Amino acid sequence: MLLTIVASLLLALGATAIPQDKRATVSEVNIYAYGTGISGLPVLTDSNGIAYVSTNAQSNLSEVTWTIASGGSVPWNVTTNSTNTSTTTTSMFYIVTTANAFSPVGFVSSNETAPTGAETVGFTTYGSDIMFISGSTLESQFWAMETGASGEWELMWNVNGTQQGDSVPVTLKTTAPTV
Ligand SMILES: *[C@@H]1O[C@H](CO)[C@@H](O)[C@H](O)[C@H]1NC(C)=O
Ligand SMILES: *[C@@H]1O[C@H](CO)[C@@H](O)[C@H](O)[C@H]1NC(C)=O
Ligand SMILES: *[C@@H]1O[C@H](CO)[C@@H](O)[C@H](O)[C@H]1NC(C)=O
Ligand SMILES: *[C@@H]1O[C@H](CO)[C@@H](O)[C@H](O)[C@H]1NC(C)=O
Ligand SMILES: *[C@@H]1O[C@H](CO)[C@@H](O)[C@H](O)[C@H]1NC(C)=O
Ligand SMILES: *[C@@H]1O[C@H](CO)[C@@H](O)[C@H](O)[C@H]1NC(C)=O
Repeated sequence: MLLTIVASLLLALGATAIPQDKRATVSEVNIYAYGTGISGLPVLTDSNGIAYVSTNAQSNLSEVTWTIASGGSVPWNVTTNSTNTSTTTTSMFYIVTTANAFSPVGFVSSNETAPTGAETVGFTTYGSDIMFISGSTLESQFWAMETGASGEWELMWNVNGTQQGDSVPVTLKTTAPTV
C-alpha cells in the first residue's frame, strides 16, 4: 500500500498551514500506530534504539516522549525514560530510505552512528498522521512486522511498499486511541 500525496497538496500545506517561519514545535507528544490488528499502540524503544509497538507492558521496552515539528527541516527528538536504569536519554527518530529497503525504524543519540541510509530530517505531520517528505511527495511507508513475541511488532520503513512477510502497513498518528 503506497500512501503518497502529490506535490500540489504539499505545496498547499506549506503555503497555508505551516509557513516556514511559523513552524510549530510541539513537545510531550505521544505517537501511536494503527493498522490491521494494531488499534493504536504507543511507539516504544528497546535498549538499542529500535522501535516497537506492543500490546503488553514489556520490561525490555521503554516509552518515548516526542518533540516534533512540522515542515520537515529539523530532526524529531525523543526522550527515553528507561525504567531499568532510571536514566533519561535523548535521541533522534530515523527511518532508512535506501532503495528497496525494508529496515527497522528507530532512534539514534548524538554520540551514536545512525545505520547506513538513515534519514533523521524530513518528518512532518499531515493532520495527525506522521509523514516523511521525499522530494515533492509525502510518504507513509511504516509497517509493523511480527517479532514472534505475543502482541509485539517491530516498526519498519518499507521503501518499496510491497507486501512483506508477517507484516502489515500501519499509520503513525499523534492521536491516542479512544477507549
Ligand atoms: C533492562 O535490562 C535487561 C537486563 O539487562 C535488558 O535485557 C532489557 O533490555 C532492559 N530493558 C530496557 C528497556 O532497556
Ligand atoms: C532536535 O534536536 C536538535 C539538536 O538538538 C535540534 O536542532 C532540533 O531543533 C530538535 N527538534 C525539535 C523538533 O525540537
Ligand atoms: C521517568 O518517568 C517517571 C514517570 O513519568 C518519572 O516519575 C521519573 O522521574 C522519570 N525518570 C527520569 C529519570 O526522568
Ligand atoms: C523491492 O523491489 C525490488 C524490485 O522489484 C526487489 O528486488 C526487492 O527485493 C524489493 N525489496 C523488498 C524489501 O521487498
Ligand atoms: C552516549 O552518551 C550517553 C550519556 O553521556 C552514555 O550513557 C552512552 O553510553 C553514550 N553512548 C555511546 C554509544 O557512546
Ligand atoms: C522482550 O521480552 C519478551 C519476553 O521475554 C520477548 O518475547 C521479546 O522478544 C522481547 N522483545 C525485545 C524487543 O527484546
